[in-house]
Order: sequence, then structure tokens, then C-alpha cells
Amino acid sequence: MMKTVVYHFSGTGNSLAVARGLAARLPDCEVRSIPKVMAQDPALDPVPAGAVIGIVAPIYMHGMPHMVDAFIGRITRPEYLFMVYAGGGNLGAGLAWTQKRFSQAGLPLSALFNIRMPSNYTPFGCPSREEQARLVAEAERRIDAVADVVSRRAIHVDGSNTSWFAAHVHPGLLYRLGHGAIPGMDSGFAAAGTCTGCGVCARVCPAGNISLVDGRPEWHHRCEQCFGCLQWCPVQAIDYRGRTRGVDRYHHPDIRVADMQQSAPGAASD
Ligand SMILES: Cc1cc2nc3c(=O)[nH]c(=O)nc-3n(C[C@H](O)[C@H](O)[C@H](O)COP(=O)(O)O)c2cc1C
Ligand code: SF4
Ligand code: SF4
Repeated sequence: MMKTVVYHFSGTGNSLAVARGLAARLPDCEVRSIPKVMAQDPALDPVPAGAVIGIVAPIYMHGMPHMVDAFIGRITRPEYLFMVYAGGGNLGAGLAWTQKRFSQAGLPLSALFNIRMPSNYTPFGCPSREEQARLVAEAERRIDAVADVVSRRAIHVDGSNTSWFAAHVHPGLLYRLGHGAIPGMDSGFAAAGTCTGCGVCARVCPAGNISLVDGRPEWHHRCEQCFGCLQWCPVQAIDYRGRTRGVDRYHHPDIRVADMQQSAPGAASD
């Protein structure tokens, strides 16, 4: 039986929950953190050749997180390669763009899926508890379907939810226009006086982008825009551009802050 390794990048636990859901359904399947792999010497932590490799990630501005893009360069000779977006439901031309990215890397992407999850982009609001529960329950059924395709090593690409115009006339426009700015978009985060200096924001950051200076977080412009720092702060001290004050915070209901800390680049190896 061939080993499956599912790599995840996650800010608020949706992608981690999907990765764990797949591991629970697939035989001999291990879940690994992309931020941890990327923090290690590539020679010490190779992505195994000849295995079944899966990637689970959120979608940002209709494209993949920068770190996932860089991670793709570490994959060599997979037996079967699949990717799952745990996105907020609006992929734009993300699926077509993603297929192009793998093909540029010379990697055969056998299957590409989109599982809709609650959106963690808090400036646009937080989904209600009912909506979260509905989407998480629906996602369980979608994870069943993904596991079925992967266990059959089938070729599969989910249909895109985008219009013909978005997919063909300006494919990847939002991604192209917006992605270059992402590392510096952390200048929009600020901690209020209620910050206790607990350091949770720094410990969950998948990019190692936060340090505490005099007990307050500072952001270092290597941001992935995962919104983990804002969402996991236990006292909701972090705001983004004055647009998240008083808005409920979100994280996947089955994922705890300790899970995120364990997935962060500074955590001990798996
Ligand atoms: C900066 C940012 C941009 C986002 N852009 C999109 C998007 O273009 N399309 C979409 O469907 N969801 C978008 N989302 C929502 C996330 O992809 C979604 O909530 C995802 O499930 C979060 O996964 P995580 O909990 O593993 O971090 C965005 C979220 C953030 C924080
Ligand atoms: S998690 Fe919140 S309270 Fe803790 S250091 Fe960060 S901003 Fe301050
Ligand atoms: S600074 Fe905040 S938003 Fe940026 S990568 Fe780190 S946790 Fe995510």
C-alpha cells in the first residue's frame, strides 16, 4: 500500500481540518505542515518521491498562498498529486490558474478540488454560527468524495464557479494585481491597548512574521494574509484597518490554538 502525505497550509484551521479529514479516510496517510517543511533545510526534509502527495490550502484573492506556491518547487516525482482548496466559495479563475502553475512546474496534477468552507476574511464579516455549522457539515460530505477519488487514483478537476468572462478574458486578474502586495499588507494590522502580551499571535503565525517587542506584536512584512493572528488573539486585540472592530472572530470549530501552534514554523518537528 502506497503512503499518502497530505501537506497543509492553514491560518484558521479550515485547511487543517480538511487535511485531517482526508487522513482519517485514507489508509497510511500522514498530515504535515507546509510552514514547518519550508522552515527546514530541504535536504533534511524532502517531500517523498514516489508517494501520493496532497496539498490542502485556502485560496487568497483567487490564488494560492505564496508559501504554497514556493512549496510546489519542493515536490519531486509524485506517484499521484492532488490539491484541495478549502476556500470561501469564490475561486474566480483560481482553478485554471492553479492547473497552469503545476504545469509550469512540470508536475502532473491528477486532481483538483474546491471544498467550500466558512470565510475567514473578517473585514467582510463573520459567517453566523448556523452558516458555519452548515458549511462544515457539507464539507464532511465533500471530503468523503475527495477521499474516494484519491483512493481510486482518478483524474478529476472540480468545475469552476466563475463566469466564462472571468475565466477566459481576464484569468487570474485579481491574483496578478493583488498578490504582490500581500507580504506588506500586514501594515494594516494593529494591536489595541487591551493586548496582554501573551504571544499567541506570534506563535500561530505560519510565516514567522510576528515578534513581540516590549510585550506588543510587531509585523515584519513577510505576511501571507492568513488572518490567523487576528482570529486567534484570545482578547480580540488585533484589528485590520479599522474594519474588524466588533466583528466576531472565526476559526474552524474542531481546531484549537494548540493545533495551529504545532503547525507553525517554530514548532518541534512532527
Ligand atoms: C486575505 C484573504 C483573501 C481571501 N480570498 C478569498 C478568495 O479569493 N476566494 C475565496 O473563496 N475565499 C477567500 N478567502 C477565504 C479563505 O480562503 C477561506 O476562509 C479558507 O477556508 C481559510 O482557510 P484556513 O482556515 O485554512 O486558513 C480569503 C481569505 C483571506 C484571509
Ligand atoms: S495574541 Fe493578542 S493579546 Fe496576545 S500578544 Fe498578540 S495581540 Fe497581544
Ligand atoms: S502576520 Fe498574521 S496574517 Fe500575516 S501570516 Fe502571520 S498570522 Fe497570518
